Amino acid sequence: MDLIDNRILVTGGAGLIGSHLAASLTSDNEVVVVDDLSKGTRDRVPDGVEFARADLTDKGDVARIVTEDVDVVFHLAAYTDTNYEKPRQLFEENSEMTYNLLERMNDVGVEHFAFTSSSTVYGEAPRPTPEDYAPLEPISIYGASKLTDEALLSTYAHSYGMTAWCFRFANIVGPKQRGNVIPDFIEKLLENPETLEILGDGRQEKSYLHVTECVDAICHVVEQATDDLNTYNLGTRTTTAVNRIADIVADEMDLDPEYTYTGGDRGWTGDVPKMRLSIEKLAALGWEPRHSSDEAVRRATRELVAELRAEEST
Ligand SMILES: NC(=O)c1ccc[n+]([C@@H]2O[C@H](COP(=O)([O-])OP(=O)(O)OC[C@H]3O[C@@H](n4cnc5c(N)ncnc54)[C@H](O)[C@@H]3O)[C@@H](O)[C@H]2O)c1
Repeated sequence: MDLIDNRILVTGGAGLIGSHLAASLTSDNEVVVVDDLSKGTRDRVPDGVEFARADLTDKGDVARIVTEDVDVVFHLAAYTDTNYEKPRQLFEENSEMTYNLLERMNDVGVEHFAFTSSSTVYGEAPRPTPEDYAPLEPISIYGASKLTDEALLSTYAHSYGMTAWCFRFANIVGPKQRGNVIPDFIEKLLENPETLEILGDGRQEKSYLHVTECVDAICHVVEQATDDLNTYNLGTRTTTAVNRIADIVADEMDLDPEYTYTGGDRGWTGDVPKMRLSIEKLAALGWEPRHSSDEAVRRATRELVAELRAEEST
C-alpha cells in the first residue's frame, strides 16, 4: 500500500523502533502514537505526532483508539525485556495485545496490519535462516509469544480479509535503547572502567541492524509486498560477536578493560547464541542494508556513549 495520506496508528511508538517509525511516517501521513509508557517515554514521541496513552491489554482502551477512520496499524508494542522475570505476564500481555487489536480492527473494518515479530521464532536454526525454514521451534517464552502472534496474524490475513506484514527482526540497535548488550556494556564501564563482565563466553554471534535502516526496510516492504500475509526477515548479511561488541564499546570509550565471563555458550536461558537471517527475500523486493552489522553496532555505540555520559554528568 502507498504510505501517503493515511491515518496510521503506531503502537509502542514511545519505544526505540516505534518512535523512529512514527517520525518517518509523519511527513506524509497523520500518525497517532499509542503507548502505555511502561517502558517507552513521552519525550520520544516525535513532534507533530498525536499521542494516545493506552494499555493495549485493555479492550476498552483498544476500542477507544482503533476507530473506523484508521487505515493501517503498525503494531510494535510488546513486553520486550529479554532477561524477564515474569514469563507468564510477557506471554499473556504480548498475545492479548495482538489479539485485542486484530479483533477490534476486524469489527470496525480496518484492513491493514504490520507486525514486528522476531528472529526468536526460529529457535536454534541453521544459518542463514530463510523465512520458509521449518519447523519453527522457539526456545524462549518471548519467541513463543511472537510465534503465537504470528499465528493470529495468519488467521486474520487468510480468513478475515486483512492484509498483514510480518517482520522477523534481527537485533535492532540505536539511540535511547536500554536493556540491550550495548547500553549494558557502556553502563558497566561507566561504573567500573577497569573490568567488563560479559554474559556467556563472548562468542555468541548475532546480526545487528541500526534502527534507521530497520524503519526504512519496514516502509519499503509495506509499500511493495502485496500478498495477504507478507513475512520478511529484516537484518544484515553479517554478524557481530559479543566479544567484538565489547571491543567496539571499549574503543569508543577510549578504555582497555579486562574481560571476565559468566561462562556457558549463551547469555541467559532462552538466548539463541548464534543468529543470522537470510535477507534474500528482502533483497528480491529491492532493499539492501547500507551498513554491516559491525557498522550498526559502532554507530549505536557512539550514540549511546554520548547519551549515557551526558546522563551521568547531570
Ligand atoms: N529491538 C530489537 O532488537 C527487536 C528485535 C526483534 C523484535 N523486536 C520487536 O519490535 C517491537 C519494538 O521493539 P523496541 O525495541 O522498539 O521495544 P521498546 O521496548 O523500546 O518499545 C516497546 C513499547 O511498547 C510499549 N508497551 C509495552 N506494553 C504495552 C501495552 N500493554 N500497551 C501499550 N504499549 C505498551 C512500551 O512502553 C514501549 O514503549 C517489539 O514488538 C519487539 O518485540 C525488537
